[in-house]
Amino acid sequence: MSDNKEITVKKVFGVLVLGLTLLFVVAACTSTAEVRTVIVTAPPPAAVPPQKVLDLIPSVFAADTFLQNVCGACHGPDLKGKIGPNLLDAATRLTEEELTVIIAGGRHGTSMPAWSNVLTPGQIADLAQEIHDFGSSIR
Ligand code: HEC
Repeated sequence: MSDNKEITVKKVFGVLVLGLTLLFVVAACTSTAEVRTVIVTAPPPAAVPPQKVLDLIPSVFAADTFLQNVCGACHGPDLKGKIGPNLLDAATRLTEEELTVIIAGGRHGTSMPAWSNVLTPGQIADLAQEIHDFGSSIR
């Protein structure tokens, strides 16, 4: 009988040790998760155009063909929307200045890249003007 008791004590002790170990593991995982949360809530970096879009950039800049061929990869060659929204609609809602800000900075958390990474402020202003004029002309 005393043997059985000893086994029971050992079992209880074993379960306790296992429980404590699990507690430590869980605690360790929880603190790792907290660290991850901090990283996730940090502001996302500005999106850079994906390589396949960068490959479309011509050596000589012209706003109309740039819009059609490069922006058109996402917004459709007619700019009426594809995986990105209809830019002619956007032109009816947004001022040239607002378009400039969006094109330069992109949209965090979406696939809209920050074009200030690859274009000069002058080129971005040309694009905004082109979209705005194009949008106005078909209104
Ligand atoms: C890789 C895909 C991609 C490319 C390339 C791209 N865009 Fe976008 N664009 C998007 C997406 C997706 C959105 C929608 C973002 C959102 O949900 O707010 C967007 C949004 C916009 C908006 C805001 C539209 C609105 O209705 O608010 C403008 C303006 C715009 N893009 C202009 C451009 C211009 C100009 C270029 C080329 C220099 C360009 N985009 C290239 C994906 C792209």
